[in-house]
This record gives sequence, C-alpha cells and structure tokens, in this order.
Amino acid sequence: MFVNRIHLKDYRNFENISIELNKNLNIFIGDNAQGKTNLLESIFVSSIGKSFRFSKDESLIRWGKEESLIKVDYSRDDGPKIINILIQKDSKKAIKTNGLTIERNSDLVGMTNIVVFSPDSLNLVKGSPSERRRYLNVELSQLKPNYKYLLTRYTKILLQRNNLLKKISEKPQHRNMMPVWNEHLVVSGTELIFYRLEYLKKVMFFSEKIHDRITGGTEKLNLQYKSSLGKINDLNKEEIKRTYYDKLNKGLEREIIRKATLYGPHLDDIDILINGMDSKYFSSQGQKRTAALSLILAEIDVIYEEKNEYPILLLDDVLSELDNKRKNYLIEFIDSIQTIITSTDDSDLLEILKNKEKKIFYLKNGEITRIIE
Ligand SMILES: Nc1ncnc2c1ncn2[C@@H]1O[C@H](COP(=O)(O)OP(=O)(O)O)[C@@H](O)[C@H]1O
Ligand SMILES: [Mg+2]
Repeated sequence: MFVNRIHLKDYRNFENISIELNKNLNIFIGDNAQGKTNLLESIFVSSIGKSFRFSKDESLIRWGKEESLIKVDYSRDDGPKIINILIQKDSKKAIKTNGLTIERNSDLVGMTNIVVFSPDSLNLVKGSPSERRRYLNVELSQLKPNYKYLLTRYTKILLQRNNLLKKISEKPQHRNMMPVWNEHLVVSGTELIFYRLEYLKKVMFFSEKIHDRITGGTEKLNLQYKSSLGKINDLNKEEIKRTYYDKLNKGLEREIIRKATLYGPHLDDIDILINGMDSKYFSSQGQKRTAALSLILAEIDVIYEEKNEYPILLLDDVLSELDNKRKNYLIEFIDSIQTIITSTDDSDLLEILKNKEKKIFYLKNGEITRIIE
C-alpha cells in the first residue's frame, strides 16, 4: 500500500498544495514550524479520520477559513482508494472513499494502514497506562473492525454502570440493577481483553526479534498484559469471564464508595520489560527509545501478517534522535514499504540514504520550494 498523491486545501498552514509521492521513500525537509508534522498529520487523518495530536477537527482548518479539504490517493493491492475529507466549521466532517459517502468514521478505519514513529512514541514506554491503552485501541481498531465496535459499546456500558454506582450510594435499592450491567460489562470487556492478549502475543513475537537485532543480542524485550482483573494472561475466555464476575462481586462495596468501575480493560496496562526489568523505571532514555522503535516496527509485521499488505510508515523528526546503528537498522527495515520522513536537517540524512530511490521535498511556510528526484 502506498500514497500516490496528497492534495490539501486550507488545511493547517497549507493554502493549496498537491504533491505526488515516491512509492518508496519521501523526505520532507524544513525548519521548525514550516508544516512538516502538519503534512504527516494529514495522511494520518485520511486513514484514521482524526488527528494524532488529539486536536479537534476544527483546528485542522486553516486559520481564517471556513472549511478544509484533505484528499489522499492511495494505491492498494486491490486497486486505488481515494479518500476525501471535508472539514467544515460547525458541522460534521464529510468523508468519501472513491466518491462514495462514508457515514461513520469507524468505517474509514482499517481501509488503509499507517504506522507512526515520532518523538511522542517514547510515551509508549515511559508514559502513563492510558498511553498504552490508547496504543492498543488505535492499533486494534485498525486491524479488527469488531474491536472498534466493542470498544464503543464497552465505553457506553461503563458510563451507565458508573452512573448506577453513584445512584446506589444514594439509594441502595438500585443495587438490584447491578447484575444486568455486570453481565454487559463482562461480556464486552472480556472480548476486548482477549483481542488485546492475542495482539500482544503477535507484537511480542516480532518485537523480540527486532529488538534482539537492534541491540546486537544484548537486550531481551518482553511484553506482559497487566490486567486490573489480576493474572489472566494464560486463561481462556470463559476463565477470564469467571474471574471478571468474581472481581465485580467481591469489589462492589469498594466500587460504591469510589463511585466508579474498578475492574476491566479501561484500567489495564502493558508492562514493557527489558532483560526482565520494567523499562519504565529501570532503563535509560536510549533504551526506552529503542524499545519504542522495536514495538513500532513490530506493528508493521503484525499488519502485514493480518492484511497481507504493508502499511505506510511515517517517521516524524526521529532519525536525528537515533544513533547510527539504529538508524541503519531502520533504513534497512523500511526497504519494502513506503516511508515518509521529516527532518530539519538534510546533510546527515542524504548521506545515509544516498543509495535509495527517493524524492526529497523542501518545505517552507506551507509551500514546497524545491523537489529533488
Ligand atoms: N489551523 C491552522 N491554520 C494555519 N496555520 C496553522 C494551523 N495549525 C497550525 N498552524 C501552523 O503550523 C505550524 C506548525 O507546523 P508543524 O507542522 O507542527 O511544523 P514542523 O515543520 O515543525 O513540523 C504552527 O507554527 C502554526 O503556525
Ligand atoms: Mg514537527
């Protein structure tokens, strides 16, 4: 899968540009605040339907304008996929693929696959548990349409159940409603957990090998799903459900006091271990960065295994942060997939990529000032 062309109109600091990308490697060079990340973000938006910067749709509209257009032409093995997103002030964004309107954002997700490695990726290792849950939710939503559906459902159930817990603390007779909500919660929560366990097994299979290669065999990377339900990693679905019911039954009094659901995938986490030690506390900045890189690259393999087609890799401002060994490994790794790199500096980059087929764009103030092919 690759992007052929990007067309942006009144999108962030781009007034109107249309660029054709190379199938393999594309490099965008420019000073700070010229629009490099904005450009990568537009590709992400065309794939996921929203920004990786957690910004509202409206913030994508060029300041002072009423609407913004993002059009990205993809080539997939099964043919072209043209994605058109129109964002207007005070109205719902309009998404079309190959000219046909898509009603729900979730129907867009999974049509194309993008993997991003940016300075923020480090938060995967050193950030809060919610960062890792978000990672799981975003990746699994791309791979499994049913996951996205379950997640939306689970979130609604959670909200209702929390409301009920609040009510019970005022009116105890509401307790008799709890079993119904417990059942809803356990059924969809267990499915979500099971998807996550399966996904992590795959990521681990690939990331372990990648990490071994990048570190020359000196570090062993390991992932463990850490659940609010306790030790469930080796349980089957029925056993997880039983554990879940048990936690809810035993923990009800605590939940009523806290007025919140204290068990389930909305509180789970992943332990990332390097040589058996929790990397969040016991690893250097460089080790964390390498672990994040291994996890992100493993995603590429997982997507390939699932979809039989490689995703597109976006590397935002990360090459300068890696030492030569890691840089070279990365360059070697991306040989078969379309990669879009941004950087402030070209000297070093052009040297290590000199033998690659590529297209280089110089970006200034939302405009392409020069292209080298
Ligand atoms: N909605 C918008 N309209 C116009 N300009 C914007 C908008 N959102 C962000 N910008 C501009 O984009 C710049 C940041 O661009 P960015 O892509 O993050 O730069 P970089 O090249 O450093 O990655 C900001 O300085 C801001 O001026
Ligand atoms: Mg940037």
